Amino acid sequence: MNGSKSRRKFISLVGGGVVTVALAQSTSSAFASTYPEKAVQAWKPIPPSIETRRWMLAHGLLAPNPHNRQPWIADLRKEGEISLICDGDRLLPETDPYGRQILIGCGAFIELAVMAAAQRGVGVTVNLFPSGEPAVNELPKGCVVARLVLGASGSASKNELFGFIHKRHTNKGAYDSAKAIPAVQWNQLTASAVSAGLIGGFVSDTQQREVIKTITRDAYEIEITTPRTYLESARLFRIGASEIETHRDGISITGMMPLILSKMGMFNRFEVPVKGNSNHKRTMERWLPFETGSGYLWMASNGNSRQQQVDIGRAYVLAHLRATALGIDMHPLSQAVQEFAEVKTLNLALHKSLGLEVQKQTLQMLVRVGYANAPAEGTPRRSLDSAMVL
Ligand SMILES: Cc1cc2nc3c(=O)[nH]c(=O)nc-3n(C[C@H](O)[C@H](O)[C@H](O)COP(=O)(O)O)c2cc1C
Repeated sequence: MNGSKSRRKFISLVGGGVVTVALAQSTSSAFASTYPEKAVQAWKPIPPSIETRRWMLAHGLLAPNPHNRQPWIADLRKEGEISLICDGDRLLPETDPYGRQILIGCGAFIELAVMAAAQRGVGVTVNLFPSGEPAVNELPKGCVVARLVLGASGSASKNELFGFIHKRHTNKGAYDSAKAIPAVQWNQLTASAVSAGLIGGFVSDTQQREVIKTITRDAYEIEITTPRTYLESARLFRIGASEIETHRDGISITGMMPLILSKMGMFNRFEVPVKGNSNHKRTMERWLPFETGSGYLWMASNGNSRQQQVDIGRAYVLAHLRATALGIDMHPLSQAVQEFAEVKTLNLALHKSLGLEVQKQTLQMLVRVGYANAPAEGTPRRSLDSAMVL
């Protein structure tokens, strides 16, 4: 479509009062659009000449992490070590009030950094929380999550999953719900949790999938209609190339229509959906692809220590890399796993439906799994330099 035709179509949509439809279509396809080059340069091949600690960090920052906050600072002031600090300015206090998910993201970062070192034959000793664990009911602001101490050359062997670090992407599109994952592959996906002393399971049965579908949808509806949790996400919307390139984090919304509507004041990102209104309808429609897939992978722990949260992150990214190697897509759905008060009943229902003992066991990750209709691409990352203390 040429420029004037597309403009006429847009104006007629606005004039016809169906802006909401246009926006819904535009944003749902938005995730498949291309990001500005600078925002995704972290996904380009990393020069092999780079020094080992930077090589580790350049791979670590490709880790999956909640809302793409990238809550990490790497302190390199001590030779031969990296101290990974949880960035207190990059937390999600409303939806992740204890920083549990933030620490899962840090765990994924550590796993990739360790794997990258091993690729060079360098073993890494991981000392978690060397200055003490943050309290369980407080945000882990500024704590040292891990001290990574590099070993001698030849102290580690390569991991076969290393080659998938650059290919792993969370796929938030629609999946083929008719396609099943073979049981042997489900077991491969839970293996990293089990071998780390955590609990891993999957849901592939049609009836149980329906139960999870309802719980996750209801939890999403609560999150988007609760002003403080909705606004926490809305503040992280990066609409259009300029915002995406400036921030290189958060929730990227590409495509021209949201940008134009936003600039014209016809899409207010801070308008909280209210049950029954068109904004609510449109926002709920965005959930529909998230109900597709072959089933759900889940990971849990006996207890809920800070160390276990980091271990979950390490196990989760290993599972995601394994999935990538198998040609399987993944997408965490965290609303019903979260701890904010309004979602508590659904959190309990989810534990029950997965056969977890609420008093003793903690669900840490719930992930939609399957075969996506279209590939995903690398999401923005901040520069390596911006996350280092030298
Ligand atoms: C602990 C955790 C929770 C997450 N929860 C969600 C979620 O609820 N919904 C979602 O769309 N993505 C979720 N994600 C995926 C992140 O949005 C994604 O990892 C991030 O945007 C970076 O993209 P990438 O994984 O493709 O590199 C979660 C990731 C982690 C590690």
